[in-house]
Amino acid sequence: MKSNILVIGGTGKTGRRVVEQLQNKGIEPRIGSRNASPSFDWDNKDTWVNTLEGIERMYVTYYPDLAVPGAKEAIQSLTYLAKELGVKKMVLLSGKGETEAEACEKIVMNSGINYTIVRASWFNQNWSESFFLEPILSGEVALPMGDVLIPFVDANDIAEVASTVLLDDSFNGEIIEVTGPELITFKDIINMISKTSDRQLNFYDITLEQYVEGMKQMQIPDDVVWLIEYLFSYVLTNPNNQLVVHDIERILSRKAKPFLEYAQETAKTGIWNQVLAK
Ligand SMILES: NC(=O)c1ccc[n+]([C@@H]2O[C@H](COP(=O)([O-])OP(=O)(O)OC[C@H]3O[C@@H](n4cnc5c(N)ncnc54)[C@H](OP(=O)(O)O)[C@@H]3O)[C@@H](O)[C@H]2O)c1
Repeated sequence: MKSNILVIGGTGKTGRRVVEQLQNKGIEPRIGSRNASPSFDWDNKDTWVNTLEGIERMYVTYYPDLAVPGAKEAIQSLTYLAKELGVKKMVLLSGKGETEAEACEKIVMNSGINYTIVRASWFNQNWSESFFLEPILSGEVALPMGDVLIPFVDANDIAEVASTVLLDDSFNGEIIEVTGPELITFKDIINMISKTSDRQLNFYDITLEQYVEGMKQMQIPDDVVWLIEYLFSYVLTNPNNQLVVHDIERILSRKAKPFLEYAQETAKTGIWNQVLAK
């Protein structure tokens, strides 16, 4: 059944899973993305009205990150438009410990639209659907801060929380913090992926400066290098991020998924045993 629910970033890591969760409930949400029809592009406001027209509830994931220059203005404009078009509820995906993301949260919170903020720590799926996949496939993982404790969270858990609060108004006005059930390090992760995928993986604990220099040598665009450096230097090391929060359990009445379970499931798909394209 077509619905008045919109998922912006509905083909991304959490958005795709929110769409699946809604479909399992018989709801066919509209997807907001450049490849959707109608197309929605954060960089082209002219595309926004068609996507938001007739929508009552929406899950918003910004790309690439609420911390990048221009994100706050985009969230401001989108929220304004949403209110004008009669959107009744917004669920915003935010990042834990990001000052810039909190500024975006405040825009939604002060908009007069019903809202729930879902504030997430780093996703497990960064290792299988994003920037940490390539080093895994190469077998050589060089990262800074190998011993920093991080409560990696599973995108399936985030999506289940997001789709629940999107439909259930009893969570209106709340900031929900989604973390995994344990604090783990990059070294722990490499061990778990190595064991579950039966691969030899070498981990090199390098400095942030070496990591940034490596990205520049690989001609990664400057704005991406800036974002990754920011995430490592401000988000990863923020003591407020090195905490396990039990909101997933509170909302879903079950425990959050441990990284090992994600690794076991992901290893079975064979994604970590692919040959890296030259
Ligand atoms: N990854 C993490 O560990 C993490 C942790 C905490 C918070 N977050 C937050 O989660 C949000 C999403 O990050 P993510 O890395 O997980 O990304 P993602 O959701 O996987 O992003 C991909 C989605 O964004 C769409 N997209 C990309 N560029 C777009 C554009 N210019 N206009 C419209 N849609 C666009 C893509 O569809 P098309 O290609 O079809 O446009 C796709 O649906 C960010 O705000 C980030 O701060 C991420």
